[in-house]
Amino acid sequence: MEELRAVILAAGEGKRMCSSVPKVLHPLCGRPMLNYILDSAAAVADDPIIVIGHGASLVRESIGPQWSYAVQEEQLGTGHALMQALPQLPEEGRLLVLCGDTPLLEKRHLEQLIREHNDNAATVMTTELADPSGYGRGIRDSDGSVLRIVEESDASTAEKEVREINSGTYCFDLKLLRCFLPRLSSENAQQEYYLPEILTLMREQGHRIGAYRIDAWPVALGINDRCQLAEAAAIMRERINRSLMRQGVTMIDPSSTYIDYDVRIGADTVIWPQTLIEGRTVIGSGCRIGPAVQIINAEIHDEVMIRQSTVEESVLETAVRVGPFANIRPGCRIGRKVKIGDFVEVKNSVIGAGSKLPHLSYAGDADIESGVNLGAGVIIVNFDGRKKHRSSIGAGSFIGCNSSLISPLEIGAGAFVAAGTTVTRDIPAGALAINRTGQKNCAGVGERLLSKNSQQEKEATKEKK
Ligand code: UD1
Ligand code: CA
Repeated sequence: MEELRAVILAAGEGKRMCSSVPKVLHPLCGRPMLNYILDSAAAVADDPIIVIGHGASLVRESIGPQWSYAVQEEQLGTGHALMQALPQLPEEGRLLVLCGDTPLLEKRHLEQLIREHNDNAATVMTTELADPSGYGRGIRDSDGSVLRIVEESDASTAEKEVREINSGTYCFDLKLLRCFLPRLSSENAQQEYYLPEILTLMREQGHRIGAYRIDAWPVALGINDRCQLAEAAAIMRERINRSLMRQGVTMIDPSSTYIDYDVRIGADTVIWPQTLIEGRTVIGSGCRIGPAVQIINAEIHDEVMIRQSTVEESVLETAVRVGPFANIRPGCRIGRKVKIGDFVEVKNSVIGAGSKLPHLSYAGDADIESGVNLGAGVIIVNFDGRKKHRSSIGAGSFIGCNSSLISPLEIGAGAFVAAGTTVTRDIPAGALAINRTGQKNCAGVGERLLSKNSQQEKEATKEKK
């Protein structure tokens, strides 16, 4: 079989995105759009070449050094972009040409294009759109074969009516491509070297041009602006969700479930609505996630339950309970069966198995051993205005409600902190720490204060009147 190679055109600025980020780096479900078509290309062809130009170093950096690149210094059109890759390609064989902004094309679509190509000089992938505006139109001859592609800006009113569009995806005979590519002109509305013009040139010389019309139109969607980005993201999201559901994940409402491409989720986990799972998050089996949860780059083991909360860059071990309304910030390792309840924030802390932070607490830079109970309102005061400090709490300790632990502190195992204590010194294992001011009860004073207050209030309302 003839050699098959691929080139991905990705040098354009993407003006219609109105962005400082090169278009092909705009993320779709958590990864640059360019990565999708690159995956599809690499699945069918050897060593794909990416043509970069606008923001070249940024693109190279985020896509990685493992791929081959060609540089188009000046963006003079798709035909000119392809020319830049020619020196790195063999003299003959077949060449797939793809656009960096069509992320929905999968391996199977490219394979079909290659089959349809057979021994044509060139084969273009087309599709029919209800609204073809913005795309090049495929103009067919009376015998039904594709004559040429006309760009929207060069099209006549009648040509604009044509709904069959050029997807920007082609298969070429490399030898013929080398022969015709230098002949492209830039005499058109955009004064660019249009790659599709090559089809006209080849045909004029009697070469056979094929068109593979793909029925499932959204796969050919090209992203030129943010509306198309959102449209493509919705389709990609649906693909991701379907694939997870087929692997045994239940989604109560897939349409309100936002899961990034690289996320992994185990079977029998149930995802409730309004949930976002991002980055490289891995979730085990039998979990209950949501409603209204955001998880970013976290490792969640089995049987974890998280409701109305956020979790970022942390590990949650088996059977942890989080929420509602908790915030687990980066750097946490939460042990088995720990309970993190409502309005609790945890940051850069290790919490041992079975410990409980059920309500209204802050634990920052702390090592909390197993079986510890933090009462409501306990604050680990880790910041003195200049520096952060770390504290540790030994196994089985009980920290009473509304205590402040001023870090750095070492609290021994089985310590007891009385409610309302401000702890400023280490506590030995098994000790009780208490430092509340002694309470005085002044007979009748409460009553007097209340009646005085109501007297003043009455006078104030009178004055107003
Ligand atoms: C292009 C096609 C159009 C087709 C559409 C499909 C041309 C002239 N037009 O139009 O027929 O319907 O794609 O989506 O080919 N690029 C470069 N260097 C350049 C210009 C572009 O590398 O100098 C890259 C871009 O980064 C992009 C791809 O080529 O990934 C397509 O360019 P774009 O400007 O998006 O072309 P369209 O106007 O969409
Ligand atoms: Ca485009």
